[in-house]
Amino acid sequence: MGTPSSTTVSVEKRETWSSSTGFILAAIGSAVGLGNIWRFPGVAYESGGGAFIVPYLVALLTAGIPILFLDYAIGHRYRAAAPLAYRRMAKRTEGLGWFQIMISFVIATYYAAVIAWSCSYFIYSFNLKWGEDTRGFFLGEHLKVGDPEISTSIVGTVALPLVLVWVAVLVVIALGVTKGVQAVNVIFIPLLFVAFAGLVLRALTLPGAADGLNAFFTPDWSALTDLNVWIAAYAQIFFSLSIAFGIMVTYASYQRRKANMTSSGLVVAFANSSFEILAGIGVFATLGFMAQQQSVAIADMKDLTGPTLSFVTFPAVINQMPGGNIFGVVFFGALIMAGFTSIISILLGVAASVQEKFGLSQRGSAILVAAACAIPSVLLFSTTSGLLALDTVDQWANNVGIVISAIVMTVLVVWVLRRSRVLARHLSTVSTFKVGRVWTVLIGFVAPVFLIIMLVQKVISLINDGYEELPQWYLNVFGWGTIVFVVVAAAILTAIPWKGRDDETFTPWPPIEEESR
Ligand code: PFF
Repeated sequence: MGTPSSTTVSVEKRETWSSSTGFILAAIGSAVGLGNIWRFPGVAYESGGGAFIVPYLVALLTAGIPILFLDYAIGHRYRAAAPLAYRRMAKRTEGLGWFQIMISFVIATYYAAVIAWSCSYFIYSFNLKWGEDTRGFFLGEHLKVGDPEISTSIVGTVALPLVLVWVAVLVVIALGVTKGVQAVNVIFIPLLFVAFAGLVLRALTLPGAADGLNAFFTPDWSALTDLNVWIAAYAQIFFSLSIAFGIMVTYASYQRRKANMTSSGLVVAFANSSFEILAGIGVFATLGFMAQQQSVAIADMKDLTGPTLSFVTFPAVINQMPGGNIFGVVFFGALIMAGFTSIISILLGVAASVQEKFGLSQRGSAILVAAACAIPSVLLFSTTSGLLALDTVDQWANNVGIVISAIVMTVLVVWVLRRSRVLARHLSTVSTFKVGRVWTVLIGFVAPVFLIIMLVQKVISLINDGYEELPQWYLNVFGWGTIVFVVVAAAILTAIPWKGRDDETFTPWPPIEEESR
């Protein structure tokens, strides 16, 4: 097939993953993260236990996998990080790319803080430094949590590891896609799976494990009538699969032109959900052990969800376990590996977007973006008000921001730009697992309808009921303020004239007619 010579420049220059395995490992690395270990077990337990599997699978099949394919299709066809990929699809949609990238930016600032806590806890595990009162230690000594205020007193023990995490992220991003990101994933992902399998096996052999699994899997079917449970399932799937953040668009853009995209997507989605369920099993088997030691019912235990599950309850269990410190080292080591392979995906997405827009070098954009992210990350999340800010920002970024992103993305592609056929044909041409009408109906109808209902309900509940009884001014700053920040930053970045390479000559491949741009 003869490609016009004017297009070959833009075709050949892009760095690529060195193989499909490299891409799949990196995409699994992005998906499997703190969300799987630190978030999923608690969310599932709180939202109906065994019954949660129903909304979870519905969310995975109706929105998760279809939108993952959509991210892949856009990135792979238009071969750029989100803003430029959207711009190549249709100029006026660049802003959506920046909106997604800015949400990712916000998430990276606090995600790094949780990785930093994990680093500290990894070290604390060796001598069980947290002592008997693990809650008092985490909140009082480790984080030094204060009131909901905008605190400026930085906690050194949180800030130092946080700075180190940022330096490590910077180094990996500066090394680039293959030598940096792919290399880290090729080592960490197999290691993570082996380490985690070891943890789960150990957990299952603890006395009381079966009670834990019963608590986790016993379905509370009435939860299915609660819209909030469905919202939790969709939010979990989005966060967990890293979709609608612009990040998978970027990852797919580094995939070779002839690459089996949908089959890779199925592998990634399957690996991610399997890991998530495995984490639920491991965590609850361990909790069953603890309940038995203390002769309490799991339902009466505190701190089973949110940030405290890993940093309060787990250390308490580790205290009681024979050989607990080894378990602790492996558990927090697994959290670090899972978290690190995810945060580098976010930063690569942000750095590549800035690099393309401003025509910077890879190193230059890596330094700029890592610094721009690290500064608010340290200033906001290593202070005495860091934990509350983190929880609030997370609530808004993931339940409001990312849902808006997914709605706009699907409606725009299917209804406004009418690109679903082209993208479906693109995926089907390069992949063995073909997509067609069903996919279009899912991304064009089922997913946006569900998501709009969810968004409206969530916004109403946040307006009427607030969040965690925090003062309204606080929610305005860290909750709604997050959304305003993302929108304003995206608008500014979009308005700045494009300074990167002129890509007017870009031609998507494979050639598919009706490509009207
Ligand atoms: N998927 C990651 C997790 O489950 O922890 C988090 C994440 C990574 C979210 C990348 C968004 C993203 F773009």
